[in-house]
Amino acid sequence: MITRKDLIKKYIEFFKSKNHKEIANSSLIPDNDPTVLFTTAGMHPLVPFLLGQKHPQGKRLVGVQKCIRTGDIEEVGDNSHHTFFEMLGNWSLGDYWKKEAIEYSFEFLTQILKIPKEELSVTCFEGDKDSPKDTETAKIWKRLGIEKVKFLGKKDNWWGPAGKTGPCGPDTEMFVKDLEIWNDVLMQYEKDKRGNYNEAKQKNIDTGMGVERTLTIINNLEDNYETEVWKPIIKQIEKLSDKKYSENKREMRIIADHLKAAVFILAEGIKPSNTEQGYVLRRLIRRAIRYGKQLGISTEKDLTTPLVIEIIKIYPEYNLLKKNENIIIDELNKEEEKFERTLEKGLNLFSKLTKDKKHLTGKESFLLFQSYGFPIEMTLELSKEKGIKTSKEDFEEELKNHQKLSQTATKGKFKSGLADHSEKTTKLHTSAHLLLAALKKVLKDSNISQKGSNINPERLRLDFSFDRKLTGEEISEVEKLVNDQIKKEIPVSREEMTLEEAKKQGAEGAFEEKYKGIISVYTVGDFSKEICTGPHVKNTKEIGKFKIKKQESCGAGVRRIKAIIQ
Ligand code: ALA
Repeated sequence: MITRKDLIKKYIEFFKSKNHKEIANSSLIPDNDPTVLFTTAGMHPLVPFLLGQKHPQGKRLVGVQKCIRTGDIEEVGDNSHHTFFEMLGNWSLGDYWKKEAIEYSFEFLTQILKIPKEELSVTCFEGDKDSPKDTETAKIWKRLGIEKVKFLGKKDNWWGPAGKTGPCGPDTEMFVKDLEIWNDVLMQYEKDKRGNYNEAKQKNIDTGMGVERTLTIINNLEDNYETEVWKPIIKQIEKLSDKKYSENKREMRIIADHLKAAVFILAEGIKPSNTEQGYVLRRLIRRAIRYGKQLGISTEKDLTTPLVIEIIKIYPEYNLLKKNENIIIDELNKEEEKFERTLEKGLNLFSKLTKDKKHLTGKESFLLFQSYGFPIEMTLELSKEKGIKTSKEDFEEELKNHQKLSQTATKGKFKSGLADHSEKTTKLHTSAHLLLAALKKVLKDSNISQKGSNINPERLRLDFSFDRKLTGEEISEVEKLVNDQIKKEIPVSREEMTLEEAKKQGAEGAFEEKYKGIISVYTVGDFSKEICTGPHVKNTKEIGKFKIKKQESCGAGVRRIKAIIQ
């Protein structure tokens, strides 16, 4: 049996032996990325570098990344789809290209994982109006002795961009007995806003190997849920429900999958809510609870706590889990209690509403949402099971009338997307650095530190440690101090250094734990110095006029400021 730990180690060691540097596992919540809720692939935290920015650790990188994909939560339940998963990957940032990438993949699969060459088959891009047939890739595979090479279209053999625009390209996928094990993306295009694929200035390799699936394949299992990263959770569900996995696969997989994802999201400090990440979290927890009930797990029994304990045991190296164990259990219990109170009533109402008719109106699905906390996706799923017609659009229409739920939570934002590195975002990004420095000066508190930030083209949001409301006067002073720096037309410079050096120079380090080795530090005159991946303006004069729109409390000892550029 090859364990998860072995697999990850073998992968990282192999690519290190090919001069790759190991990058840290990034947060599940992308920094400063307004278009996505979660990190969806290993390449995600690397987007600025795939677009040409220099990576402090070089041009050859390797790592394992925790990911969440929420596009198909309702599809979870088969033997291989997961909301949370880990992805191994190696990257060439404008360094090696197809030949080396494929040779590395081949060597790792056949020499390290010892998969017989005869069991491997591959697919390549068949070509279309945007990009030619990838015969070069096919030739490389043939030369390595792979006989089974198929050409497929964009639907199968193209990856990215993760959002609407950004790096993408044809890919070549590797299969072991018809199960996909690895994807090498040959990133040679950048898709623009108009939908055109333009030749990229920098050609990159982006690869992705799913840990769960690979463990299944190399251990000759048929079901991902039989691997060590799922089995203990399933066992616990069997115990709680007093039922067998073999007879209740779909329900047990859903519970295990959703609660694992929920544990990781909660560990990032997200709480169940009706917007954005919090809404995804709520959907996951509530869907798990619904299936728990379907399995007959009594409401007197605590479903979540024993599962959280198992989940945390599987991932000992994620300190964030252990550190937040109590909060995770607490939040899950709260949400479980809240939903259990209304689930039964909501199910009754659903039955009543659909007793003599075959459809639900927008008003009715909204009532289920508002009064009983049924996420629309749950009502849609219930409707599908019972042959009832329910329209998401009608629900959204109703919702709009009530303006209760942020539109972003129900629309496109569940899909993955790329960082928006627009001009406006860049300006706000630099403003956030100025704001943090200004807060320290005006409030005369050098211990103030950044607790979180989120930037979209409309506004910046900065959370920082401070334990009281700022006075109107203080807000004006902070605003003025930031605007003074803009008026002074100070150049913004970027330097690379070690973390120790950055600390010695007094750099702010909100994201410092993300980097091993060399890091980037952005300096604005003698006003601000922060460890950061950027991007930033070249000179503060580019920013425009800075204005604070709002301040609020954001939990004990943390304040939040929202600001804009006029
Ligand atoms: N980014 C590619 C994927 O997610 C490797 O499959």
